[in-house]
Amino acid sequence: MMQLETALQTKWAGRKVFWQEEIDSTNVWAKKYARDFGSEEMQGALFLADKQTAGKGRFDRIWVSPSGENIYMTLVLWKPPIEPWKASQLTLVMGLSAAQAAKEISGVRAGIKWPNDVVMSGKKICGILTEMHMEKDKPEYIIIGVGINVNQKKFPVELCEKATSLYLECKRELDRISLVAKVMEHFEDHYERFLQTGDLSLLKEDYERILLNKDQQVRILEKGEESRGIARGITPLGELLIENTDGTMRKVFSGEVSVRGLYSYV
Ligand code: BTN
Repeated sequence: MMQLETALQTKWAGRKVFWQEEIDSTNVWAKKYARDFGSEEMQGALFLADKQTAGKGRFDRIWVSPSGENIYMTLVLWKPPIEPWKASQLTLVMGLSAAQAAKEISGVRAGIKWPNDVVMSGKKICGILTEMHMEKDKPEYIIIGVGINVNQKKFPVELCEKATSLYLECKRELDRISLVAKVMEHFEDHYERFLQTGDLSLLKEDYERILLNKDQQVRILEKGEESRGIARGITPLGELLIENTDGTMRKVFSGEVSVRGLYSYV
């Protein structure tokens, strides 16, 4: 991973790289490593694999992870100075970083479907899974897993409608290392801004600029119930602000709900 080290312009994010050709899941690997060998030096460690045999998605879904074409990586934050209930906000910080990096590398506009799916032409190109380990009442480590569909040429029929890759969107193969480096650079910068206020206040404007749900009708699926409203933006805590059909406002928290467009995924 010498190439990554040369490409990176960060102080700490991705400075220590672990690479495996094949692994069950980079999230599982990073967690085991942090558990067994955890120390200050783990701050910013990045676990990368070319293929995952048991890639994990949100809501216990599977993240299909073929070899040779995509990015599967997990970033470790060691003893982050944040309250545990704020960990999910880091998923939005990473979503913003991945969307900006994907756009810069491919030249194609990338948007965000709240809370953290990165989307091009209405289809997902990137998913993020954040996990935390607590020691007493503080996070000992938070790991942020990122999967980006980079050079994948084909998707199984069941995913075709919902998933795409940068290759399919910009019609050329892209360098995975440069993309990883760009994601790390944006993340480091955004994370430092996040720590300044302990929330998303300083990132909200950038996030909302590419938030695809903004001013759109959404369906909110919550504990088996479906309701509708118009998404108006996010709060500094990363909740989605919804204007209800009667004009009142409410906030929805990412752990609890799933949001869809009226007729489509976004
Ligand atoms: C989602 O459901 O959208 C989240 C998908 C997260 C996938 C990435 S790939 C690298 C890391 N390792 C995993 O097992 N999952 C995450």
